[in-house]
Amino acid sequence: MDSVRVPYDEESKKAALKDKRLIPENIEKGKNPTNVWEIGRLNGNSIERVGHPTQKTIEIIRRFVQSLSYEGSIVLDFFAGSGTTGRVCIEENRHSIQVDADASLVNYFEKHREKITFTTSKPYEIIVNEPIEYFLKRINSQVVLD
Ligand SMILES: C[S@@+](CC[C@H](N)C(=O)[O-])C[C@H]1O[C@@H](n2cnc3c(N)ncnc32)[C@H](O)[C@@H]1O
Repeated sequence: MDSVRVPYDEESKKAALKDKRLIPENIEKGKNPTNVWEIGRLNGNSIERVGHPTQKTIEIIRRFVQSLSYEGSIVLDFFAGSGTTGRVCIEENRHSIQVDADASLVNYFEKHREKITFTTSKPYEIIVNEPIEYFLKRINSQVVLD
């Protein structure tokens, strides 16, 4: 999937260009992530921070969302924490269901929303503590929101 490709380092790129099985055009786009993803941890003073003690970086969550779902998909995160997945889903035009044993999720998620700067995301609606049937009904009527 092109959206999650990572650039080759110079040496690997040279080797890849010699590999007849690979398409040069795709090599220019970067390589597909392998089993090991090298993504830095979230710094204590990062502007992404919303105060959750085990918050993950947007970069890693975005890679999951982009590679495992499509625009319009419903992404479910049962351990939402601060709601990083929800933030990324807004930015990437996915629906999301976020669950956490800690009700502070709602407050952390508000802080995430304040930090959204993407202009590509469509209008969205936040539904809190409603039955799943209500959520699905709203998705089915999203024509009104688009
Ligand atoms: C590592 S944090 C998730 C961080 C999140 N990815 C983020 O970027 O903010 C794990 C979360 O799982 C929640 N959790 C742990 N056990 C749970 C359970 N049985 N049901 C629901 N949530 C649970 C914790 O409250 C915690 O917020």
